[in-house]
Amino acid sequence: MAPITIALNKGRILDECLPLLERAGLSPVHSFKDGRRLIFESRESGVRFVVVRSGDVPVFVERGAAEIGVTGKDVLLEHAGIGSYAGYYEWLDLGIGRCRLMTAGKAGESLPAGRLRVATSFPRTARAYFEAASRQVDLIELGGAVELAPLLGLADVIVDIVETGDTLRANGLAPMALIAEITSRVIVNRAAMKMQTARISGLLQRLADAAVAQQAA
Ligand code: PRP
Repeated sequence: MAPITIALNKGRILDECLPLLERAGLSPVHSFKDGRRLIFESRESGVRFVVVRSGDVPVFVERGAAEIGVTGKDVLLEHAGIGSYAGYYEWLDLGIGRCRLMTAGKAGESLPAGRLRVATSFPRTARAYFEAASRQVDLIELGGAVELAPLLGLADVIVDIVETGDTLRANGLAPMALIAEITSRVIVNRAAMKMQTARISGLLQRLADAAVAQQAA
């Protein structure tokens, strides 16, 4: 039988995921920190992991390359889907990776009245947010270090993830409006859920139980 593949998000979420996978009896055989390895077998036979960039998790899952994925709600909000259709179910909120998607700008400065220049790695979400607020924007898409944009006069405002707020503070910026509360979610390929219901729902239940136990601990 083909293994069930679980796509995990590189970076901070992965560190928070590991104790949860351990609780669920799904720990990887080799450390996720092994930089060259791309596929990680689980101690549970018939289960394996791939560790990919955050935005790639929904791509792997909706195309069926992975049956299950774990990534942040920010990534799911930004992901377009095939056409406008997401080929996955958003199954479970793991309650980890908690942070906020916010607008932020220079501390103590008010925003210009006209068209706003907005720097972000979340262009779709930012556009939708400002459209709903009837605000005209020029979107400047950056891959990272978005906080630099207001400092160097590239943008009036940023849309970015705020966890502790330390990065904003360290750069003389301040949070402004909340766009979305973010946590890590488990997503499941729609077709796989139909074809392999028993195997997949068994794994999902173990992840759900582990998330509940982790939150109670
Ligand atoms: C995120 C985000 C901020 C930072 C916020 O970046 O883009 O820069 O975390 O966290 P804080 O409020 O606790 O300071 P991350 O470190 O995930 O790296 P990235 O730039 O690759 O997104």
